Amino acid sequence: MKNDIEEVLISKEDIDLKVKEMGKQISEDYKGKDLLLIGVLKGAFIFLADLMRHISIPVEVDFMAVSSYGTSTKSSGVVRIMKDLDSTIEGKEILFVEDIIDTGLTLNYLIKNFKTRGAKSVNACTLLDKPERREADVSVKYKGFDIPDKFIVGYGLDYAQKYRNLDQIYILKEEAYN
Ligand code: IMP
Ligand code: MG
Repeated sequence: MKNDIEEVLISKEDIDLKVKEMGKQISEDYKGKDLLLIGVLKGAFIFLADLMRHISIPVEVDFMAVSSYGTSTKSSGVVRIMKDLDSTIEGKEILFVEDIIDTGLTLNYLIKNFKTRGAKSVNACTLLDKPERREADVSVKYKGFDIPDKFIVGYGLDYAQKYRNLDQIYILKEEAYN
């Protein structure tokens, strides 16, 4: 498995520092507000768990599962909701938490969809962004790192459901998925 890894892209130390900083900023911005974090499964679950512990204001959490990828490395552009929210969102300030924004199609769909569901505000937070690959014009309020157009794994991100458990972010060798 380790043979498929090319190199470390973002170290554990750099991830930790960034996540802490983002949590602090979110805590300041949403002070006195009814914040609901929505983790987009599965990739965001580790980032969300760490981020939440750096949020110092009252906060709720829920999860959605969407699918646009299957086991390939290219977005199909079709977003299917596999698991919807348990909570109601009326009057809440929604912050979607994503692991990575690639084409932006997933987040674009979610934000549009939620704006019609009665939330007070709908914004997004992502640990990683691949700006070169953007297809949908989606605005992100909090962003950890811009990264190059490489396929990456670790810290919640998978390739064919594997590698999510790695605690740093790695570039996957091209021959591993080509
Ligand atoms: P988008 O709709 O193209 O922005 O897709 C975003 C989703 O694709 C992310 O939430 C990830 O699950 C997945 N994804 C995009 N790029 C990568 C990558 O480099 N490694 C692992 N998953 C990725
Ligand atoms: Mg994802």
